[in-house]
Amino acid sequence: MPTRVAVLASGAGSNLRALHAYLDHADRSRAARVALVASDRADAGALDFARTQGIETRVLDVGDDGAESLGTVLGQRDIGLIVLAGYLRLVPAEVVSEWHGRIVNLHPALLPAFGGKGMYGERVHHAVLASGARVSGATVHFVDEHFDRGPIIAQWPVPVFADDTPATLAARVSRVEHLLLPRVVEAIATGRVRLGDDGRVRGAYQRPDGGWAFALPASEDENALANEISAALGG
Ligand code: GRF
Repeated sequence: MPTRVAVLASGAGSNLRALHAYLDHADRSRAARVALVASDRADAGALDFARTQGIETRVLDVGDDGAESLGTVLGQRDIGLIVLAGYLRLVPAEVVSEWHGRIVNLHPALLPAFGGKGMYGERVHHAVLASGARVSGATVHFVDEHFDRGPIIAQWPVPVFADDTPATLAARVSRVEHLLLPRVVEAIATGRVRLGDDGRVRGAYQRPDGGWAFALPASEDENALANEISAALGG
């Protein structure tokens, strides 16, 4: 049975589209499928897209801390993996605990820099540009009780150019996000990547460039091995 994925999104949902398109493939659809899209905002573009695809949607009741509402919605639908793709609210601790190692978040910068409460959307890219950093990128990480914390699974860098604006940098990062997130979701759904009992991430995932990467190489040798495998496979 494919892992039933819930996508939580507050905005446009371009990453939802990328994930859905990636999983909508004969082989990958056996690993996972988007079974639910939920949002704290009734006008989120992600919900509109989900409806066009016949994916179940829910607008969350986030009156208090949202714990019962979100937990109940997810629990009743046999959700195996939760993907935060532009979801602006903190996930209640009860949900984090119940889905330990089965919730991932996507962030449009290289964490742990430029993350945390209030760091979303153009604010992130504005802060990157103001800092003078020469690289930014996308991060996918397991979720804990804090914003943008939790063990990092995968990162992919993009350059920062002198004439960048927050919008141009956002567009560059976004292209990478659309490649990285689906591959990490697939790796978790198939058991190729998992969160170990020691809080470290184990396993390997396919990189945006087609090669393979260990989530946390044990050594330089293991990293070299991943590169060799990638080269052998033509990645
Ligand atoms: C992405 O940049 C993601 O990193 C951040 O929110 C954005 C969501 O964009 N958490 P979209 O709604 O998927 O287009």
